Amino acid sequence: MDNSAPALQKPQVVQAMFNRIAPTYDLLNDCISFGMHRGWKRRACDALSLKPGSSVLDVCTGTGDLIYPLLERVGASGKVTGLDFSAEMLTVAQKRFAEEPVTLVQGDALALPFADNEFDGAIISFGLRNVSDIPKALSEMVRVVKPGGWVVNLDTNPKPALPGYWLYFSWIMPRIGQFISRDASAYEYLCQSTQQFLTPDELVTRFETLGLKQVSKNAQSLGAVAMQRGQKPFS
Ligand SMILES: C[S@@+](CC[C@H](N)C(=O)[O-])C[C@H]1O[C@@H](n2cnc3c(N)ncnc32)[C@H](O)[C@@H]1O
Repeated sequence: MDNSAPALQKPQVVQAMFNRIAPTYDLLNDCISFGMHRGWKRRACDALSLKPGSSVLDVCTGTGDLIYPLLERVGASGKVTGLDFSAEMLTVAQKRFAEEPVTLVQGDALALPFADNEFDGAIISFGLRNVSDIPKALSEMVRVVKPGGWVVNLDTNPKPALPGYWLYFSWIMPRIGQFISRDASAYEYLCQSTQQFLTPDELVTRFETLGLKQVSKNAQSLGAVAMQRGQKPFS
C-alpha cells in the first residue's frame, strides 16, 4: 500500500487536482481511453432504465460528460442535474451546456443538497474512487433516489483481466498526461487510486449492504472498467 494513500483521499487535494486539469480533462479522456469512455458512459446511462420525463442526478459530473446521454434518455420533459465540488470542472460543463436545460450544482457528494426521494435515478462515473467516504457517497445517492429508481456506478477496476493494464496505467498514461495537461501527477493519481479502489465484487456487497435490490455488475473492455447497479426497494 502506498504510504501517501490517506493524503490522496483528502478532498482538498482531489478538488485542487481537478481544478488544475479541468481545461484538458476531456481531451485526455479521449486519448487515454482511445475514445472508449464514450461507450462505457452510454451503457452506464442505459443501466439507469430512465424514461422520457425522468429526473436524474449525475454525482461528480465533472465537465458533464454524461449530460448529453442523460438528456437523450429523459427527453424534453425530463430533468438532468449534475453535481460536482470542482468549480473549474463545472465551468467547463457550464460552457458546454449553456444552451441545454441542465442544472449544475457545486456541492459535495458526501452531503447532497437534495431532498429524499427527489430523483428517478442517480449515477456516478469515475467519481466514487475519489471520494473520502465511499459508503457515505453511496448512501447519499440511495437517499435522494425514489423507491424503484436505480443507482449506478461506473469506474476503473483494480482487478482487470487486461494484459499490460498496469504498465499502461502506471507508465504510459502519466506521460500522456504530462504531454497534454503538463500534469503527470494527476495521472499517477489515477493509477494509484485505482489500485486502492474496491473491487467490483466488494462494490456489489456495498450496494447490497445499503439495501439495494437486484444488484448486478458488469465489466467492459476486458475489465478495464466495471459497472454496478442496484434498485432502491419500494418499501
Ligand atoms: C474523474 S472526474 C469524473 C467526471 C465525470 N463524471 C466523468 O465520468 O467524466 C471525478 C470528478 O469527481 C469530483 N469529485 C470528487 N470528489 C467529490 C466530492 N466529494 N463531491 C463532489 N465532487 C467530487 C471531481 O471534482 C471530479 O470532477
